[in-house]
Amino acid sequence: MARVVIFSGAGISAESGLSTFRDTGGLWEKYRIEEICQAGCLSWNRENTLAFYDARREQLASVTPNTAHYAIAKLQAKYPNDVAIITQNVDDLFERAGCKDILHLHGFLPRLRCEQCGATHLIGYTKQERTFTCKNCGGSFRPDIVFFGEAAPMYEHLYDAMQDCQFLVIIGSSGNVIDMDHFALHVKVSILNNLEPSDAINERVYTKVLHQKATEAIDEIVEDIERFMQG
Ligand code: APR
Repeated sequence: MARVVIFSGAGISAESGLSTFRDTGGLWEKYRIEEICQAGCLSWNRENTLAFYDARREQLASVTPNTAHYAIAKLQAKYPNDVAIITQNVDDLFERAGCKDILHLHGFLPRLRCEQCGATHLIGYTKQERTFTCKNCGGSFRPDIVFFGEAAPMYEHLYDAMQDCQFLVIIGSSGNVIDMDHFALHVKVSILNNLEPSDAINERVYTKVLHQKATEAIDEIVEDIERFMQG
């Protein structure tokens, strides 16, 4: 298991042009969670929900990874067994930057999932074909996204991935959905990089706090990790 864990949220993709959720102008100011991204939306508000994710995929096609994604990819390529990447993001910007084995805790936007048997199907950045059904079981597909109130099966892997962590980096997450503070308390070094403080995060438990854009903070973060790796 990796000694360095990089945990990210929407803030790392903000400078690529993808909106965050809770900042001013964020997605949850424009859309109501309970209409678009809550368990049950696919039953009572199916077309609007699918259209929301069609629009997210279309937007994803028009953006590119930023220097923070690339710097993390370079670091991981240098220490392949010692750098794990965990993200709450459903975009594929880490993958496009060259990162490997990313743990997507909240799903993956370019992918659909069969509502009946769970089989997945990559559609890239295209619209979800409404009549398209699963070739295994005939079930209907949904975006492979974890909605509020639904089980998040990848969460159990978060604990596995944190098992040997000694150096934790949080980039661009308000901490409203996943609390990482308790992990920060148990590692040797922890860095928090968010543009602004968040009510959901206790900054005092972190070794270092950087209130900067991810693309501005990433060089210092990488230098600190390099120093740690060289012991
Ligand atoms: N660089 C670094 N941090 C940034 C930047 C930036 N350029 N821009 C914004 N941030 C920070 C904000 O200060 C904020 O703390 O990113 C954080 C974004 O917080 P949220 O919008 O709440 O995103 P996130 O924590 O990833 O949300 C978690 O909530 O709606 C759900 O499933 C969705 O995965 C998402 C989850």
